[in-house]
Amino acid sequence: MSQVLIKNGKVIVGLNAQVESVDLLVKDKIIVEIRPNIDATSLKKQDKNLTIIDASDKLVSPGFIQTHLHLCQTLFRGSADDLELLDWLRLRVWPMEAAHNPASLAASAQLSVAELIKSGTTSALTMETVHHTETVLETVERTGFRATIGKCMMDKGHGVPARLSENTTDSLNASLDLLKSWHSNSGRVRCCFAPRFAISCTQGLLETISKIAQENNILIHTHASENRREIEVVESETGLRNVEYLQKVGLAGKNIALAHCVHVNEREQQILAETGTHVLHCPSSNLKLGSGIAPITEMLERGVSVSIGADGAPCNNNLDIFKEMRLSALLQKMRYGSTALPAKKAFYLATLAGAKALGLEKEIGSIEVGKHADIIIVNLNNLHCTPTPDLLSTLVYSANASDVETVIIDGQVVMHNRELKTMDEKEIIATARKEYYQLVSRAGI
Ligand code: GUN
Ligand code: FE
Repeated sequence: MSQVLIKNGKVIVGLNAQVESVDLLVKDKIIVEIRPNIDATSLKKQDKNLTIIDASDKLVSPGFIQTHLHLCQTLFRGSADDLELLDWLRLRVWPMEAAHNPASLAASAQLSVAELIKSGTTSALTMETVHHTETVLETVERTGFRATIGKCMMDKGHGVPARLSENTTDSLNASLDLLKSWHSNSGRVRCCFAPRFAISCTQGLLETISKIAQENNILIHTHASENRREIEVVESETGLRNVEYLQKVGLAGKNIALAHCVHVNEREQQILAETGTHVLHCPSSNLKLGSGIAPITEMLERGVSVSIGADGAPCNNNLDIFKEMRLSALLQKMRYGSTALPAKKAFYLATLAGAKALGLEKEIGSIEVGKHADIIIVNLNNLHCTPTPDLLSTLVYSANASDVETVIIDGQVVMHNRELKTMDEKEIIATARKEYYQLVSRAGI
């Protein structure tokens, strides 16, 4: 048995995110007590290995959940600037994904997980590349991170390098093999289906994935309606708007997660709301690729489920949830006026809404007795956070990723006082640099 006691913090408690001065006791993976004055001395007598963390004057928050990331792309950070989506994919990202081998992919995944933990993200939904996804699963398993990971599926499309181009049966079999070996619905490491987007998948592939996913309660993670040229291609090929087409092939529903949805009309927003389809908002990526500002406020008003992700490092360039939360709020104010998306709502999108998209709202996303202990401790005693009349506002608008001091995932302390406990930061940086040079030379770009 392992126990962690967090003393004297200001804790963001419950579904309503109330800030309370309480202690927290974690037993194995689970939060078992939330109340003032949990007695450390008597607990220490019973359990010599009890870890006590002093959170005096610090904020204790549910760990952040990002619902759209590509861990495989973190090694491409800075290598694909100033392009719009389809050129960005064809000229830079696809050639680099095609050049990945297990060593470069492991380096990219480690670099990603280290950056995510250091900036307070404890769970993610990811889309990887076509090959070697088991390497990403192994890295996540070893580092203690929580993720739902999909092998990218691509069985159609122009400008796709031969190495990324699959036939439909092979693509399905490879995904099913990973599910068999790695997936458990209740586990910390899970798998999903990840067809890349409508224009790189055949209708047959999408329909088959929809059927298998529904029968087995598996999540489907894809991109949709991110870019004007992308939706024009979908319309010219299918005669339908992107979201209408996805609904027709069975990709609308509570187990469907669509990244972006920047260009969705009223009818499409209604489909998203009525079917419970999850929208994964990526504000930095939408700005850097010049894709647009997503109509998040309208979608939320219609009852669409929206959560947040940083997308890939080459279209961001960081995996920092603090930047994404703040930008989500600011962009909606630009589009809909200054009352749109207040801090508490942005915090919700980055925590509980992400848990819902993952189908894990009973397990994670808030600090409650019985939930898994995915918790971060943030030090707001610094110039840029002072004063703090409203702690949630400070967290969303003022705090930086580097203010996160301690991170606990599934009851395991994976960072304490900014030191990673399951990874060697210096070695990760050195390996990433080495693998980056070799990958670029293999990619020939
Ligand atoms: N659409 C299809 N693939 C991708 C990708 O890798 N990143 C982004 N941002 N959009 C995509
Ligand atoms: Fe993406």
